[in-house]
Amino acid sequence: MNVIYLNGQFMPKQKASISVLDRGFLFGDGVYEVIPVFCKKPVGLNLHLERLQRSLQAIHIQLPRFTQQSISIFKELILLNHLEDKNFSFYIQITRGVSTERLHEFTLDLTPTVMVCCKSLPQYSNEVLQKGFKAILMPDHRRQECYVKSINLLPNVLAYQKAKEVGAIEAILIKEGYAVEASSSNLFIVKDNTLITPPLSPKILAGVTRQIIIQLAKENHIPVIERNIKENELYDADEIWVTGSSKEICPITRIEGHSINAKKVGPLWYTINQLYQAYKQTEQPLW
Ligand SMILES: Cc1ncc(COP(=O)(O)O)c(C=O)c1O
Repeated sequence: MNVIYLNGQFMPKQKASISVLDRGFLFGDGVYEVIPVFCKKPVGLNLHLERLQRSLQAIHIQLPRFTQQSISIFKELILLNHLEDKNFSFYIQITRGVSTERLHEFTLDLTPTVMVCCKSLPQYSNEVLQKGFKAILMPDHRRQECYVKSINLLPNVLAYQKAKEVGAIEAILIKEGYAVEASSSNLFIVKDNTLITPPLSPKILAGVTRQIIIQLAKENHIPVIERNIKENELYDADEIWVTGSSKEICPITRIEGHSINAKKVGPLWYTINQLYQAYKQTEQPLW
């Protein structure tokens, strides 16, 4: 996975560099996407590319042709990195580009910096998944526009680091008494056989995995409610999951010293995870 795409060229990672005046480097002024791929089949490709365009629009970067161009970039990266029969993810980062000096204000004529590389996906064995994971709770210190997939991730990085330091998979973020999402995942709880997840709002990222899970649940007559989740409800939940393109659907069985469902992964996780694994197979290959 050594070959990356940078501004129109394919090159080894070690040869790729950007200017110190790139606004991504100076201000975190950019956005990103992560698209999981299983043997040439990207999961939720259009949903990811649409969200990327929404993120770009939200921060006033114009790159309308990237969606079309991205497909040939993806194909070339798979070929150059020999990933035809591998599982990995595309990481796409687009920044506002290079300024002439470090000034907060920007002009609309900058050429965006576009980078695409391939990353490995985490792999959890069945044994690990069936034991479930630990999560911690952290105050949500992020800015307001969490629906933008911004590269400005300092509060997320610090929360995630705290989780890792205590052997947890995620930090669930609490805002004004409600569990909104996690540092790099969306949040679901199960109560009385109903799936509950916070509604889309500027306070959370509209996760592609979240969207697919809701669709699969509805298609399979599993009740889903999109509503806010009080922090206290977590301790009383029958199941808790954190979801994302790389980690997929991870069951949480321990939160801040409390056991969830007597530390057992619940039945709805098995059902939805099976549906999700089957859904991945139905995606179209890039060629
Ligand atoms: C804050 C946050 N929420 C949710 C998600 C999950 O989104 P997706 O399912 O599209 O990967 C992510 C993924 O990076 C994230 O960073």
